Amino acid sequence: MEQILNLISSQVVKAFQENGYDEKYGKVTLSNRPDLCEYQCNGAMAAAKEYKCAPFMISDKVAEYLKGNEMFESVDSVKPGFLNLKLNPEYLAEYLRQMDADPQRLGCNPCEHPKTIMIDYGGPNVAKPLHVGHLRSAIIGESVKRIGKFMGHRMIGDVHLGDWGLQMGLIITELKERNPKLVYFDESYTGEYPKEAPFTIGELEEIYPTASGKSKEDEAYKEAAMQATYELQHGRKGYEALLEHILNVSVNDLKRNYKDLNVSFELWKGESDAQPFIPDMVQKMKDDGFAYLSEGALVVDVKEDTDTKEVPPCMILKSDGASLYNTTDLATIVWRMKDYDPDKIIYVVDKRQELYFTQVFRCARKTGLVKPQTELEFLGFGTMNGKDGKPFKTREGGVMRLEYLVSNINEEMYQKIADNHTVEEAEGRQTAKIVALSAIKYGDLSNQASKDYVFDVERFTSFEGNTGPYILYTIVRIKSILKKYQAEKTLPKGAKILAAHSDSEKALMLELSKFNGMMQAAFEETAPHKVCAYIYDLANAFNHFYHQTKIMAEQDEMVQAGYIRLLELTKRALEICIDVLGFEAPERM
Ligand code: ARG
Repeated sequence: MEQILNLISSQVVKAFQENGYDEKYGKVTLSNRPDLCEYQCNGAMAAAKEYKCAPFMISDKVAEYLKGNEMFESVDSVKPGFLNLKLNPEYLAEYLRQMDADPQRLGCNPCEHPKTIMIDYGGPNVAKPLHVGHLRSAIIGESVKRIGKFMGHRMIGDVHLGDWGLQMGLIITELKERNPKLVYFDESYTGEYPKEAPFTIGELEEIYPTASGKSKEDEAYKEAAMQATYELQHGRKGYEALLEHILNVSVNDLKRNYKDLNVSFELWKGESDAQPFIPDMVQKMKDDGFAYLSEGALVVDVKEDTDTKEVPPCMILKSDGASLYNTTDLATIVWRMKDYDPDKIIYVVDKRQELYFTQVFRCARKTGLVKPQTELEFLGFGTMNGKDGKPFKTREGGVMRLEYLVSNINEEMYQKIADNHTVEEAEGRQTAKIVALSAIKYGDLSNQASKDYVFDVERFTSFEGNTGPYILYTIVRIKSILKKYQAEKTLPKGAKILAAHSDSEKALMLELSKFNGMMQAAFEETAPHKVCAYIYDLANAFNHFYHQTKIMAEQDEMVQAGYIRLLELTKRALEICIDVLGFEAPERM
């Protein structure tokens, strides 16, 4: 369906043209004075300069022309030259009926030319537990992916595991210290390696910090870890087998964690998957004259004349020939282009890595790793802070594990639910989990991604205000009215959304009608917070309508049935939105 704003604009544009004014002046926007009107056009103000007359002479003419247009209830020309528009309630109802006839998409057309878009998010590091820093990438990336899918694009999420650095050498070194007899350390061994990993996830998570601590104090230990990393990266068989084990154990655990967050990935590739592409890539950069030696390291210049800040060269190989984070990211672009030829790659990463990605993107473009039309987008997110305004930490000041954060909030939510109602423990726990996830995700997504925000557990878990639980509460309220209605009667034949009977009903209908425009903007601007803002307004409009209207006591059968259809549409809109945000609503709460 055409966006309602465009439909309105087209009428106003026509009115300007028919009266001899340029169409560019007919642009309509949402009203910034909702007390006066629903939509407005300020074009006459600008047109007055071109046509050298008073603005109200233009707005008067246009208003006169639009009188009798069935789209509008009123068109007022207001001095000095504004056009105030109100939609005809019947026109609005018809627009909503068309949305209603398309229950999967509510009139939001899928894009005409689907793109292949890869999205690099999550970015967990193998063998290290997920911490809150990974939370934002997972939540935002998942939502961006779902919005893109809803718009009809081919979205491919890649977790991009950190599985290639010194942490691998550290783990290998520590394993060797503890158990030097393991077959993985026997260089003369040629048989098959055991299928079973020589550690559990619990042990692995303890081994890494231990090893990392030791390497900071013990130079020889650090040397050994670097040597192990080098040997792993140069094909030592026993170490490769250990890497397999580390990956398997770790990835299983990560999948469990992400599942709890309702986050999933199409691809579970890691930095290590990029390694085979490095030699050829580097060779080509040299052959093409882009890469040169600078103080022993191989670099590519990426600065541009218009830079206001210094953008240092992109380092491709260290002086000892070892690859870096950059090398891996560039080689990852190589396989992504080869296997998927994406129109766009979006990176959802901490905004502190912005300069780094500027270097990587410029280097990829300059050296021809991507096509000129391939878009590379950095979606940098801000820091999640505690109430003290500092990065979120545990009470003891350590890095908060994601699992603990989630289970704390689950517990908090359960207490709230149990305090409010008498529920069976099992159902209460299940509901708490669903609501807690909405609190976490909405708390994050309702902020523009690039901004820092304060993770305020009390506020996020509140059932009132701009929160996930408030949205879910609204959906549950609608579900319960619909159930009540269905228990008493069935919808009469010909039941349909009717022209609004009250201001609060019309306000709800106006919010609903913005659905397709909102979704399109959220996609184009990579902006899940727009979806949040929409459902917050929609939930408020609904609750206002609900408090003003006696739905179940309505005597006129068709009017009541119209309300029910309107409620169903509201519920659908809210449900589609929370689905693209990556959470769901319970039956009761
Ligand atoms: N593993 C990295 C980290 O924990 C994030 C990876 C981001 N993605 C990328 N393509 N570099 O900081």
